[in-house]
Amino acid sequence: MVSKNILVLGGAGYIGSHTCKKLHAERFTPITIDNLSNGHQQSVQWGPFEQLDILETDKLATLMKQYNAQAVMHFAALIEVAESVKDPESFYKNNVLGTKSVLEAMNQAGVHHIVFSSTAAVYGQPADNNPLKEDASLSPINPYGETKLEAEKLIRAEANIKSVALRYFNACGADTNGDIGEMHYPESHLIPLVIQTALNMRDQINIFGTDYNTPDGTCVRDYVHVDDLADAHINALKYLINGGENVACNLGSSNGYSVQKIIESVKNITQENFKIVEEKRRTGDSAYLVADNARAKEILNWAPQKDLETIIEDAYHWHQSDTYKNFWEKISERKKELV
Ligand code: UFG
Repeated sequence: MVSKNILVLGGAGYIGSHTCKKLHAERFTPITIDNLSNGHQQSVQWGPFEQLDILETDKLATLMKQYNAQAVMHFAALIEVAESVKDPESFYKNNVLGTKSVLEAMNQAGVHHIVFSSTAAVYGQPADNNPLKEDASLSPINPYGETKLEAEKLIRAEANIKSVALRYFNACGADTNGDIGEMHYPESHLIPLVIQTALNMRDQINIFGTDYNTPDGTCVRDYVHVDDLADAHINALKYLINGGENVACNLGSSNGYSVQKIIESVKNITQENFKIVEEKRRTGDSAYLVADNARAKEILNWAPQKDLETIIEDAYHWHQSDTYKNFWEKISERKKELV
């Protein structure tokens, strides 16, 4: 019988853990490999867990053989853009050399399929306010985007490995049943920050720039529910198993929402009022980043199902859960110790 075991690198993280839940629902077995540098072991609920760094090539290859893995899903990476500017070497090591190690292990173990977590950051700063197709110019403006683009190229260069690179736009939301969700520290993403403000965990939300060339002057982004991203991984896996060729696909809704609109929506859904401060622009932000998702529709038969309201509702519920509250309390205590 063909193996249904899928090695999920970074499966204890945000998008990885939601994908493990879907894999399990689709009768695959997710085997999570994670070094727990940013992931959470409590998010591993749908299959075995092995604590390992992806740079340990031989051990990785041994696990691939031991579990007779049919495919690899590679989420394991450093993702914080600002951190990548401060410490590009760590990003190179984890994201580029880490991917090299994964490919070497796959070749050693004879695994031929990989679904790779890429990002809209590979496009850099688009010249105009139009949805981006995959053949748009690839010119990242920070080390995070550079390392992801480099990893995409390394993967595509492998003769014996077929790949789907999924270029996520703004991942957000949480598992609709509340089992898992986003637990980042430091938190830099807009939706969790606005929700934290609504929940009185922060004093204010800053709007970074109100003078962009957009309808209300604030940046426009394409927000996509993490459950929809997880679905795309299942479709990408099936596409590869059925003999699909190498491809990169944008994962977004093709709808853009401004920072202002996100804040208004959180206010409406939570019925909370909070302080909003207009700040100057944050370095490196593009005015407008929205996906043209036609290719993902055509090739992966994928389109997001969950709208902005559902995204905010699910994220709001998650941020009120005991799991999230415990995480945030522990982090806050650790911060106090450091002061
Ligand atoms: N923003 C605010 N205030 C905040 C936080 C964010 O106004 O407190 C704004 C940002 O300036 C930006 C928008 O909200 O205009 C979204 O910001 P996020 O930090 O949530 O997300 P980004 O679009 O900057 O980044 C996302 C992913 C990155 C990825 C990038 C691809 O989080 O991992 O898209 O372009 F690299």
